[in-house]
Amino acid sequence: MAAIHQPTTANLRRLARVLAEGGLVAVPTETVYGLAANALEPRACRAIFRAKQRPLSDPLIVHVPSVAAAARLAFLNAEARQLMRAFWPGPLTIVLRKRPLVPAVATAGGPTVAIRCPAHPVMRRLLRLCRLPLAAPSANPFGFISPTTAEHVEAGLGRRIPHIIDGGACHVGVESTIVDLSDPGAPQVLRVGGITAAQIARVLGRPVPVRNQAVVAAGPLRAPGLLTRHYSPRTPLRLHNRISAALLRRAAADEGLILFAAPDPGLPKTAARVTILSRRGSAKEAARRLFAALHKLDRAGLRQLHAELAPETGAGIAVNDRLRRAAAKRRGHE
Ligand code: TXA
Ligand code: MG
Repeated sequence: MAAIHQPTTANLRRLARVLAEGGLVAVPTETVYGLAANALEPRACRAIFRAKQRPLSDPLIVHVPSVAAAARLAFLNAEARQLMRAFWPGPLTIVLRKRPLVPAVATAGGPTVAIRCPAHPVMRRLLRLCRLPLAAPSANPFGFISPTTAEHVEAGLGRRIPHIIDGGACHVGVESTIVDLSDPGAPQVLRVGGITAAQIARVLGRPVPVRNQAVVAAGPLRAPGLLTRHYSPRTPLRLHNRISAALLRRAAADEGLILFAAPDPGLPKTAARVTILSRRGSAKEAARRLFAALHKLDRAGLRQLHAELAPETGAGIAVNDRLRRAAAKRRGHE
């Protein structure tokens, strides 16, 4: 069992010290909970990989409190500064050429580092108190559903980590968008999240392709961590463009249904467990609630889950990306 701490100043001071001494602390961010360690200390970073059982080939995201702190870790370019101005603090991770200060273990030996400036007030206070960049992947065992509450972290990693800070339910609910600007002439979105590729393209004034591994299932992995199967419940999951009234009616008591919005003209009688992500059909609200719904139904001992895809626009793009990964069959190498 991990200790779950309320984010009081005294607790944050103490946990900042734990981090400075090389320890692990699970932290709230606005996207998902992260498992944090001192990004500049290779041993601390290795402890993250051990706790998550994450392969060392999957690089970490480094969290900083400011653009100035990012500039100490990576070579910023004009495009990166534009995106930082537009979206930081917030759910955007930027991949840039790293400075020598960043240890190889944090970048899986590669020449680039992924940097994010989170908006969650608790995480921001912690970053200021410990005065260190914090490497933090999502605080879940490798390959499983990301945590959006302290309780999800406890359920997944509680036996392997000592400390969790409870910052409430994550507001965005899906992981950050990752944009690769290591070649500023060819920006690419590597993972869709809280910010859309269209929003990034608008700021940069040019189209930005999405090289998303859920879409590009074959071929070499641009970012090793972006495996098709990720965010996976243990219960089999089938996706539907619409969950029809007929499916609702015939679904059995050992099936779980995740609806994007309230069905029109109302829920028919069903034996199945039903979760509606957003009654009013808001993709943002659906993103916020998606992982909690998957966690809950996955623990209910059901035989089959069904989920309805969101309209493929705005936050719905990230919702569908996570649903497709969760439904993907296990691949040989994972
Ligand atoms: O919202 C988030 O980004 C959360 C919170 C905790 O900040 N973190 C998160 O980390 O989702 P994680 O480890 O689950 O996903 C990080 C992914 C890696 O799997 C990898 O694919 C990509 O970021 N990444 C990290 N460094 C990279 C690099 N240098 N080049 C390309 N991709 C990189
Ligand atoms: Mg993750």
